[in-house]
Amino acid sequence: MTEERKPRTMSPQEQARLEAIKKSWQQRKQIGDRTSRIRHKIGVYSGKGGVGKTTVAVNIAVALAQQGLAVGLLDVDIDCPNAHRVIGAHEPPAYTDGIFTPAQAWGVKVMSMGFLQENEEEAIIMRGPMIHNVINQFLQSTEWGDLDYLVADLPPGTSDAPLTVMQTLQMDGFVVVTTPQSLAKLDAKRSINMIRKMNVPVLGVVENMSGDVFGKGAGEELAREMGTEFLGRLELRPDYRKEDRPTVLASKKVMEEYRVVVAGMERQLAALAPAATP
Ligand SMILES: Nc1ncnc2c1ncn2[C@@H]1O[C@H](COP(=O)(O)OP(=O)(O)O)[C@@H](O)[C@H]1O
Ligand SMILES: [Mg+2]
Repeated sequence: MTEERKPRTMSPQEQARLEAIKKSWQQRKQIGDRTSRIRHKIGVYSGKGGVGKTTVAVNIAVALAQQGLAVGLLDVDIDCPNAHRVIGAHEPPAYTDGIFTPAQAWGVKVMSMGFLQENEEEAIIMRGPMIHNVINQFLQSTEWGDLDYLVADLPPGTSDAPLTVMQTLQMDGFVVVTTPQSLAKLDAKRSINMIRKMNVPVLGVVENMSGDVFGKGAGEELAREMGTEFLGRLELRPDYRKEDRPTVLASKKVMEEYRVVVAGMERQLAALAPAATP
């Protein structure tokens, strides 16, 4: 068998590696371009699922939009993307020429991995490299336009998925959600350490589901122990069961709680970048 030999400058491995670097660089550049008109990118994060990450992300986004700001909500929780449902975005994003235009709900632009799922009841099981590609493609093909805030609902834990998002999106800071229980506090500590390892600022801690049932105070303790801000307490309330609108719009008390959290978050962002604030 004769094999034609081309002048060999690079081994296939080297070639493949070069291609991969090129692709990843192009992806990053494109994501950078697509998100260049976003003033602040905030991640909502916790070590554990079920502590209210999505609830907090959605209500922060709506509270900011109620102040007249241009806000986007990005759900990159791959295993359980449901922020679009919680905010009530019923129409999927438009898709033309390979570009997504986010859906809309309550004055917020919404993009969720959940929109791309055909069957919502099916579990999404992905491994490292696949997660990386899906998140990148998703970010690459979404056109947000001008935004004051992009609020991202991140996957919980310390696995590939949150790391990829943190690396790719270049967030300005994170809001860490904990519940009053000591186990949640421990997880939140790990989350804070991980965020710091990535060199991203922690804007502060929110204590969710606070009150008589689970107790209160762990959020403040955590903030003190980790040398970060306590942004506020969100009580455990039956109001969250109503699904017709985001809870900040259904309850004045909840809106007041979120105003405190949002004000603290804005203060922290201003302190991080004094030159960028007018
Ligand atoms: N402060 C609260 N009071 C009552 N229920 C809450 C509160 N925060 C969240 N929930 C409820 O807890 C459940 C889990 O919240 P979710 O935001 O989905 O958590 P995560 O995104 O961290 O998995 C949801 O049913 C939500 O409505
Ligand atoms: Mg969630």
